[in-house]
Amino acid sequence: MAPTFLVTGGAGFIGSNFVRHVLEHTDDQVVVLDKLTYAGDRRTLEGLPANRVRLVEGDIADAALVDGLVADLARDDGVLVHYAAESHNDNSLHDPSPFVQTNLIGTFTLLEAARRHGVRLHHISTDEVYGDLELDDPGRFTEATPYNPSSPYSSTKAGSDLLVRAWVRSFGVRATISNCSNNYGPWQHVEKFIPRQVTNLLDGVRPRVYGAGANVRDWIHADDHSSAVLRIIERGEIGETYLIGADGEKSNLEVVQALLSIMGRPEDDFDLVTDRAGHDLRYAIDSTKLRTELGWEPRSTSFADGLTRTVEWYREHEDWWRPHKDATERKYAEAGQ
Ligand code: NAD
Ligand code: DAU
Repeated sequence: MAPTFLVTGGAGFIGSNFVRHVLEHTDDQVVVLDKLTYAGDRRTLEGLPANRVRLVEGDIADAALVDGLVADLARDDGVLVHYAAESHNDNSLHDPSPFVQTNLIGTFTLLEAARRHGVRLHHISTDEVYGDLELDDPGRFTEATPYNPSSPYSSTKAGSDLLVRAWVRSFGVRATISNCSNNYGPWQHVEKFIPRQVTNLLDGVRPRVYGAGANVRDWIHADDHSSAVLRIIERGEIGETYLIGADGEKSNLEVVQALLSIMGRPEDDFDLVTDRAGHDLRYAIDSTKLRTELGWEPRSTSFADGLTRTVEWYREHEDWWRPHKDATERKYAEAGQ
């Protein structure tokens, strides 16, 4: 099979969405490199055509394995799309070590292989590298906002972005970077805010909201993140960073109340619990550059519709999320959350 995309972290939430997007919108083939950590699940890729998708179980920090895969990719003039990461802020507060290893050493390992074999790389990052905004700040993050990360997760993502920039400048690696806001949609791990509350409600458990619930996130459907990444790969300028967002700012209280309404429960049927240490207040993305320079637009512009579809998906896919639920809730219970 001739790979065209090598997708790291393709058995996780957003990476698997991108794999599906590539299958639907191109004739290309995909090799997924994924360590299948607690957050990766081979069942997420089940049913995809075997003649177009191949899963390699392995670590992005395994230099020999990565070198072989990137050498194959170079022969096909393929693109390395780097999603693999330790991705959850709460976990990074309990044990930062895998975040340093995967997000920094793993990205370094991929960059060195891309450099050796002259392969084009797209690096997936997050708006969290910019720190947070005040609730009443009229501004939003742009590509010019200075880096100011808060958590072990976001600081290791910030470090990975800086490595990519340095490898572009110092070694001429052909790379682009995108920093996206909070994603929602199917196949997201039940540790994350929306799937946690949806599956709690399906289990008859009240949603758990950190602090006072005033924190704001800028929600985008994962399908729109994937279309933006493909657009950047096709038309983006080497060395450039693009912010991805869909104007979806909502407080956590607004999100929980929308979920309660979709699921036919009273709007005060949730608990406020211990806040996250160092909890970022607000994220907001200005995606003008991506829209004007590359002509990208999000398609899921109704959060209410996207959320309703997401709730339906979790209702219909209990077999997928159930095996992860108890262990996740045990960790939250230990933290009083
Ligand atoms: P996820 O936790 O659902 O998936 C991460 C995947 O990476 C898993 O399949 C896991 O097994 C794999 N992985 C972890 N360590 C690995 C390693 N050492 N080698 C190979 N594979 C490894 O994460 P996600 O939410 O899908 O996020 C994917 C990427 O998008 C991350 O880089 C994250 O920083 C970024 N991002 C996420 C969001 C969001 O809202 N979830 C928003 C912006 C950017
Ligand atoms: O902004 C992009 C980032 O979005 C990505 O880089 C991260 O990988 C992704 O995990 C996400 O980070 P957040 O920390 O914003 O997402 P999380 O789903 O953990 O939490 C969203 C908000 O909800 C945040 O303010 C914390 C709050 N929260 C979370 C959980 C799990 C609760 O109130 N209750 C909860 O049970």
